[in-house]
Amino acid sequence: MSQSSPTATEAWAQLAQAAQQNPPLTELLTEPGRDARLCHTLGQCRFDFSKQHVALAQLEHLYQLADEQAVAAKRDQLLAGEKINRSEDRAVLHTALRGTPLSDPTRNQDISAAVDGVLQRMYALVKAVQNGDWRGHTGKRINNVVHIGIGGSHLGPQLVTDALAQHARNDLSLHYVANIDAFELEQALARSNPETTLFVIASKSFTTLETQINASSARSWFLERGGTLAGIAQHFVAVTNNIEAAARFGLPEDNLLPMWDWVGGRFSLWSAVGLPIALKIGCDNHAALLAGAKLADEHFASADLRNNVPMLMALLATWNYNFLGATSLALLCYDERLKLLPNFLQQLEMESNGKSVDLHGQPVDYHTMAVLWGGTGTNGQHAYHQLLHQGTRAYAADFVMVGHDDHRRREHHNWLSANAMAQSQAMAQGFQAPEGETHRSVAGNHSSTIITLDELGPHALGVLLAVYEHKVFCQAAIWNINAFDQWGVELGKNLAVPIYGALTGDAEQTSLDPSTTALIKHLKKNVNRR
Ligand code: F6P
Repeated sequence: MSQSSPTATEAWAQLAQAAQQNPPLTELLTEPGRDARLCHTLGQCRFDFSKQHVALAQLEHLYQLADEQAVAAKRDQLLAGEKINRSEDRAVLHTALRGTPLSDPTRNQDISAAVDGVLQRMYALVKAVQNGDWRGHTGKRINNVVHIGIGGSHLGPQLVTDALAQHARNDLSLHYVANIDAFELEQALARSNPETTLFVIASKSFTTLETQINASSARSWFLERGGTLAGIAQHFVAVTNNIEAAARFGLPEDNLLPMWDWVGGRFSLWSAVGLPIALKIGCDNHAALLAGAKLADEHFASADLRNNVPMLMALLATWNYNFLGATSLALLCYDERLKLLPNFLQQLEMESNGKSVDLHGQPVDYHTMAVLWGGTGTNGQHAYHQLLHQGTRAYAADFVMVGHDDHRRREHHNWLSANAMAQSQAMAQGFQAPEGETHRSVAGNHSSTIITLDELGPHALGVLLAVYEHKVFCQAAIWNINAFDQWGVELGKNLAVPIYGALTGDAEQTSLDPSTTALIKHLKKNVNRR
């Protein structure tokens, strides 16, 4: 066990004891002062933690845990631009992308000037597409964008453009291609005209297999349909930290929007990776998204521990996962426009905090990130909520709902909101069926948070996403792990290379296990060569 293990703190021992005597949530719901302590508003977002299965008295132990794990001091290191991503020797500066100045003025100037320079270039590109100055190689206006990128180079932009579709320009179609499965690319290309399409290749590393293959297939598609090598400059742009590789793809410097090694992929939607956002919903809305995130940064940097929303979220998550045995976090979005939020947060939380060694490389002796999953309500109520209400495992849930309906069917929206609240209530209170009818009983006692956006606009969405980012940071600080690397995903990437070789060539691959070898044989004999 390493020195900064949370399990070595006094607070951990106290919390473990408290968890044994945790009163039923129904009792806690009536604690006086719960609303004031557990409901916080940030911009147009209200974070309601009052249905968390925690007594107000136990919050003190959680705050103590944050103190003992020096969460505030670690936050200050993050915001000062220190190299806190030790395994990659990098600073973590996504906050700078939304105009939040670094608290260390010696680093501040260079970074904010660079960020602003790229932002202005991105807005100039967007305006050129919008006003017709940027045209395809035959002189036609661009009216279609295909964004190619995966993981952090995809999920954020698509989440935002889906969520804010009501702010979207209808003179520009937008398609996302992430998967190496060609069905996605084929679908996008089937709806695209090579004379009027702009491909955006977003890849921080510019080495990611899926993006490389998709970009190269898109390039061939363009060239096979009348496109010329010279015309590539009018139809392809890239967002990357690997300018040399993007240049080798055949792109002139003007078509390359840089990002930096201090932006983690899953924290990069605020960088030029957000180009499709600005193209689809306009620069003003994009700027409002950044402003929302900046508001969350300011709150995170300055609010005291008791009122700091991301810190509170992380502390309550620790309580649920490490002390109450919650094995999963259900992300239940009561708004169809947010249907990609669980996917986005899966990457953000699980790729960040799914770790089993601490900052010193020592194995941890406690559980880290729970499985995050979810979907939209009310659909989920007719699918997996049965398990949530009567299954055997502990879990926690985050509900996200939107106050304003943005459509004219108020009745639908009121029912939608009523259902979200009913589900949260059922999870908290459960139901005691009469004797002989245990099949109807619902245990309750499950923690849930309700996050309400007054309306689903760019500013509120910026607040929401940045709050989750900071929660992830605080959670890692408590667990003493590095939230900013993802070495675990490398193994599978490396193993795919010899398997691809065996699948497509004749050479025997001695490195493969017998089970994989047998499957490859089957595919080669029965499927691939049919
Ligand atoms: O899945 C691993 C990962 O490295 C993510 O962290 C990242 O967002 C994604 O791949 C895409 O990487 P890139 O932007 O370098 O193509």
